[in-house]
Amino acid sequence: MKIALGVTGGVAAYKAAELVRRLEQEKLDVQVVMTRSAQEFIAPLTFAALTGNKVITEMFGSLDAAPANVESAIEHIAVAGRIDLLLVAPATADILAHFASGIADDFLTTLYLATKAPVVVAPAMNVNMWEHPATRENLERLRARGVQVVEPDEGYLACGMTGAGRLASTEAIVQRVSAVLGLRHDLDGQTILVTAGPTREDVDPVRFLTNRSSGKMGYALAEAAIRRGAHVVLISGPTDLPVPEGADWVPVRTTEEMRHAVRERASDRKIVIMAAAVSDYRPAAPQAQKMKRGGGRLVLELEPTPDILAELGREKGSRLLVGFAAETEHVRENARGKLARKHADMIVANDLTQPGAGFDSDTNIVTLFLRDGREIPLPRLSKFEVANRILDQILALA
Ligand code: CTP
Repeated sequence: MKIALGVTGGVAAYKAAELVRRLEQEKLDVQVVMTRSAQEFIAPLTFAALTGNKVITEMFGSLDAAPANVESAIEHIAVAGRIDLLLVAPATADILAHFASGIADDFLTTLYLATKAPVVVAPAMNVNMWEHPATRENLERLRARGVQVVEPDEGYLACGMTGAGRLASTEAIVQRVSAVLGLRHDLDGQTILVTAGPTREDVDPVRFLTNRSSGKMGYALAEAAIRRGAHVVLISGPTDLPVPEGADWVPVRTTEEMRHAVRERASDRKIVIMAAAVSDYRPAAPQAQKMKRGGGRLVLELEPTPDILAELGREKGSRLLVGFAAETEHVRENARGKLARKHADMIVANDLTQPGAGFDSDTNIVTLFLRDGREIPLPRLSKFEVANRILDQILALA
């Protein structure tokens, strides 16, 4: 995973070197971005040597190299899209004020505005600056936007005063970064098979039947499981989503292809999560040539597809099976029915009628239905958080 580490101009800037080393031990690829004043405290070369990456020190490249200028002028957008997290440590009162007010006048402040990745700041400053109402207000505004703050420690400060303002310990910062990224080791050594996305069933060479699944829930599950240490086989119908790094990705199109891929790979997988929105029906007689418009009505005959989850359920063994149910009514009855019919261990049901649940949304509202009769309703959460809750429950069952 890739993170950008913003280093700003405070005495604690030297501690960022140790931080880089610890972040790399967590297998994170660190791109350091330094403000101009940070370079008064520590040389970019230190970070370049530690990370093996070029350190970004300015917004625009040298003025006499026009093509480089164009590249560096849009580099913040490229970095913004590439990173999984932006960490600023140490964060001065000045950078917090810039972030809070949305002023983008250098690379780091522009990166903050341009990235959709989560942001963690670890402030360090003089105690009076830390306690100043301006700083407090800026922090409140940042927190309200979801920025995570690793509070500074109390102690002896470089300015000679004693109080809060000392950069939090490297471990506290690394722990927070790991928590935000969902890095855990509780699925180390496990292999998880996840299906995702819709399937497509051909009507003729140019037309097909499909559904509105975006694949986001299945991809979030794959991503979360990888971050927790699992080896993930992701069998995916057509989606526009980037393949999670580290996933063993198997693209498929039809239900039959998905069934084949699942059956081929499920034998030695203990955990199978069927998040795909598999077509329940397909054209009984797909046409080899493009169908032509006729005079009257056209009736398309459909036949049922094989139920992949139910098939796995019939030869379940010690395998742990998780299915999904997307419902528009009678959520509980339908979910319980699927749990029994498909011999699943858990059905993740969502009510498509609720805002913030279902297709193409970045959030989901689901209830986990378990074989022992328990029902675990979850609040509206990001699909990544829902994925982690599902994995927590799987671990409890495994
Ligand atoms: N599933 C499957 N193979 C199919 C159809 C569905 O493996 N041919 C899986 C899905 O991946 C999902 C669960 O079964 O985990 C959904 O069950 P399904 O009975 O198809 O429910 P829906 O299609 O959501 O709803 P309905 O009951 O209305 O058919």
